[in-house]
Amino acid sequence: MSAAVHTSVLLQEVIDGLQPKAGGVYIDATCGLGGHTRALLEHSGPDGRVLGVDRDPEALREARTRLAEFGDRLTLVEGDFSALKEQAAQTGHLPADGVLADLGVSSLQLDRPERGFSFQRKGPLDMRMGPGVGPTAAELLASVDELELTRILAEYGEVDRPKQVARAILGARDAGKLVSTQDLAALLERTIRGRPTGIHPATRTFQALRIAVNRELAELEALLALLPELVRPGGRAAIISFHSLEDRLVKRAFEDPKPAQQPHRLPVEPERKFGPWRSLQKKPVVAEEAEVEANPRSRSAKLRIAERREAIG
Ligand SMILES: C[S@@+](CC[C@H](N)C(=O)[O-])C[C@H]1O[C@@H](n2cnc3c(N)ncnc32)[C@H](O)[C@@H]1O
Repeated sequence: MSAAVHTSVLLQEVIDGLQPKAGGVYIDATCGLGGHTRALLEHSGPDGRVLGVDRDPEALREARTRLAEFGDRLTLVEGDFSALKEQAAQTGHLPADGVLADLGVSSLQLDRPERGFSFQRKGPLDMRMGPGVGPTAAELLASVDELELTRILAEYGEVDRPKQVARAILGARDAGKLVSTQDLAALLERTIRGRPTGIHPATRTFQALRIAVNRELAELEALLALLPELVRPGGRAAIISFHSLEDRLVKRAFEDPKPAQQPHRLPVEPERKFGPWRSLQKKPVVAEEAEVEANPRSRSAKLRIAERREAIG
């Protein structure tokens, strides 16, 4: 059970960005197996405190064992982004000096066939990060129509010829031939064959279904909306995303408002020049070549860091 390995992405860059210090308070909103959480604890020693949150109780069990040496400097809580503010308040981690979110799936989730995330291993079509919460991929596929599935594949997976792929999936579903991850992977291999893209034909469809099952974009929007209430003025937020839609949302949230984004401003209301954040870089931080070589998952990672303004207006 403890064999799961997850290589944390952009670890040094996150520490350089959040600059954890002794006595500081930090929130890792995506604790996973605790790689970034460990670095936050180490750099905020001897008395900094960290709240680690994850919607996956299996990951939290692992993190609890791995990080036991930090004692009560670490608090671990199960929950998703939408519940973060209440949980941080209840556990005494508000306002935080820094908040981190490292989006996407962990290797633990990918490596466990029974979780249904991997097209390389036979498992049920589950894909839920929080087991027992919300519909599984099988339940999603049982209820979608062609239009909705086409949208999911195109938007979340940038799948080539999404309508054709959606039709093939729904045909197999209606024939009762779509039970396991391997059924879906084999179907995608047959459907997408002959269109080499350099990646496995199932990659993008699995990604699209995972994003839909876990409502990943809605969750990110919820996080970005409450983030200013989590971080103290002068504190920092760091977000690592793996998908262009996610990165666009993060970039937008860290930017100052543009006049066009304030359509309902009353004439007497002064135009707001600044949002809650001062972005620390124009372009996102990406992994260096050596990291990509050692950990291919880091290839698509984009890190954005912003500092909470003292006053907004
Ligand atoms: C890439 S992993 C984090 C790995 C971790 N930073 C490390 O170094 O070990 C992402 C984790 O975020 C969790 N997660 C994703 N979306 C979440 C959400 N909306 N709420 C809570 N946890 C979420 C997943 O369950 C997963 O364990």
